[in-house]
Amino acid sequence: MYTLSSDFDIATFLNEYWQKKPLVIRQGLTAFSDPIDENDLAGLAQEDDVDSRIVSVHDDEQWHVYHGPFDDYNTVCQGKWTLLVQGVDRYSDDINGLMEAFNFIPYWRMDDVMISYAVKGAGVGPHTDQYDVFLIQGKGKRAWQVGAPGNYTPRYPHKDLQQIAGFAPQIDVVLEPGDILYIPPGWPHDGQALEDCLTYSVGFRAPDQHQILQHVTDELTAAHCQPVRYSDPNLTQPRHPGMISPTEVSTLREMIIDLISSPDSDHALMSLLSMQHLPESDTPVPVTTDEVRTLLENGGEIIRLLGCKPVFNENQNSTNFTFYVNGEAFHTPKVLEQVMWEILRGAPIDEAWLGNSEEQESLLSILALLINKGYWEMIS
Ligand code: SIN
Ligand code: CO
Repeated sequence: MYTLSSDFDIATFLNEYWQKKPLVIRQGLTAFSDPIDENDLAGLAQEDDVDSRIVSVHDDEQWHVYHGPFDDYNTVCQGKWTLLVQGVDRYSDDINGLMEAFNFIPYWRMDDVMISYAVKGAGVGPHTDQYDVFLIQGKGKRAWQVGAPGNYTPRYPHKDLQQIAGFAPQIDVVLEPGDILYIPPGWPHDGQALEDCLTYSVGFRAPDQHQILQHVTDELTAAHCQPVRYSDPNLTQPRHPGMISPTEVSTLREMIIDLISSPDSDHALMSLLSMQHLPESDTPVPVTTDEVRTLLENGGEIIRLLGCKPVFNENQNSTNFTFYVNGEAFHTPKVLEQVMWEILRGAPIDEAWLGNSEEQESLLSILALLINKGYWEMIS
């Protein structure tokens, strides 16, 4: 279980730093011990469904990028190399817990935890990222420089490695285990391992307009929502056949606005914000509500799948409580809303949750559905 230092004030951080300027948080995670080591990381990077790469630079300044899964590390771990593994929060309880320490930022903004292992002298070079990141120093020491946002020209010392030529550092620090460096999008940075070291990057995401519109359109099409077509029963002859009037332009623009203001678009938006690229369920035989009840009555628990970050709209005007997981909508009776808040937060569910409530059947049926979808798991 990881908790941020009591000296770290969330409200101050959000007001003064989040998306505004970088911050070094000394001992942000107190008594930090690494939940993973480089051997575990190398083992993960051998798995087919794990996204990993090795970035190295040799004495002749040649950069190399190799993509996992890796069978043999000997040929790729040459020079000053870094192994970087994405999405480790989906594979480790502890790493998922590390990400949860940052849940003062909402789930829908969270992306994943990337872990890097860099040998002494290694780093991926100066670069900017499009997203916010908390860089947590694990074992070893690492020097970090951070510059101001600007118009930096990208360079590609390897086709898969984007860097920038350099920047004037505003922050120049050495991080030790448990220290945290927060970097907002667009602030150039460069980390160099002073010793063999581990870095945990808790990364965030933010959709751009194209992604939002694309997703809304895809969802509306998939749901067979009937689009409204432009019509002009009051057409008057234009002064030139090529001419489009301001009224026509504004009517067309209104069509877009109407579409994105519809309840169907709200649903599409929620589905986008809940997307986590979780694996498809492989539950061979669906569980029944009776089986869920029996499990709980016999001391079993139901727990949230690692990496699962459910979301819901604060504004709920129906008789149901609706939440979204991995792009899908789920509904429960409104009376279960408070219970669902705790379940969605990831609280393990045991027999005590059944209570005597009349809502027990609804609770069991949503739990069975979530288990059958693969988003919650039964532990006996
Ligand atoms: C790293 O862990 O080596 C790179 C992290 C970053 O710069 O975003
Ligand atoms: Co970066």
